[in-house]
Amino acid sequence: MHKIKVWDGFIRSFHWLLVIAIATLYFSAEEGMMELHFVAGFFTLALLLTRLIWGVIGSKTAKLTALIHSPRAVLKSLQHGDAKLGHGTAGSYMVIAFFILLLVQLLSGLMTTDDILTDGPLVQYASSQVVEWAGWLHHKNFDLLFYAIILHVVAIVIYRLKGKKLVKAMVTGYAAEKNNDSNEELTKSPWAAIIIFVVVFAALLMTWGAEPVVYLFS
Ligand code: HEM
Ligand code: HEM
Repeated sequence: MHKIKVWDGFIRSFHWLLVIAIATLYFSAEEGMMELHFVAGFFTLALLLTRLIWGVIGSKTAKLTALIHSPRAVLKSLQHGDAKLGHGTAGSYMVIAFFILLLVQLLSGLMTTDDILTDGPLVQYASSQVVEWAGWLHHKNFDLLFYAIILHVVAIVIYRLKGKKLVKAMVTGYAAEKNNDSNEELTKSPWAAIIIFVVVFAALLMTWGAEPVVYLFS
């Protein structure tokens, strides 16, 4: 066995911050704390946009093109095991599903209103029909996102029972590999991603965040 670095610092931060952000988004919505919901929403949007950019310019294991496999390759990996470093063949479909569900949730949220006081920042530009549809989508898509999260955690537990310590790798960045002696670098320094994240989050807060931020900190 030797240890190999599979996840860079940005991917790991992205993952665990995303978990915290989604929990915050759920509880703030349930409690009607819309200002917190909006700021956490802009934070999540900045995280996801940075992750997608990092999927083009980032580490080898972060690349979006590394997520694309034929259904036949998935069946083969499920029957014969997966030698791939980074996301497994089947898991790649889960990751793509998450990115799409999160984008739908975030974009529909921008056009959703609570019908009392708070409008998403794009509500003023959309017709009332579109706003109604976006609100419906924001509720229904959250259910799908919720089921996807359950499935994701169940899959990780099943891999653990089969001996694959995926969570440890997502925390430390390192995976233990039996048959891989290559010295190829799979990860890059996360700094470029961190700078992109800060710039995108600041831009979102300056365009749409003034009101909720002032409310939260006063
Ligand atoms: C809000 C809940 C969650 C969401 C939305 C979520 C989403 C994701 C996403 C999008 C990825 C792909 C990472 C990337 O390439 O950027 C991922 C991977 C991963 N997640 Fe989660 N996750 C959640 C909760 C959890 C929890 C609770 C655990 C631990 C039990 C976990 C463990 C992992 C692991 C180990 C991977 C790497 C899988 C692999 O090796 O291919 N996730 N998750
Ligand atoms: C991944 C990100 C997001 C998640 C997980 C999320 C989740 C939720 C949930 C669970 C609800 C409550 C739905 C219900 O009661 O059934 C909700 C409501 C709401 N969300 Fe989000 N949301 C996200 C992003 C956003 C964003 C970016 C905005 C706008 C800036 C937004 C605006 C709203 C509004 C206005 C409501 C109130 C709807 C109502 O009262 O019926 N959300 N969100």
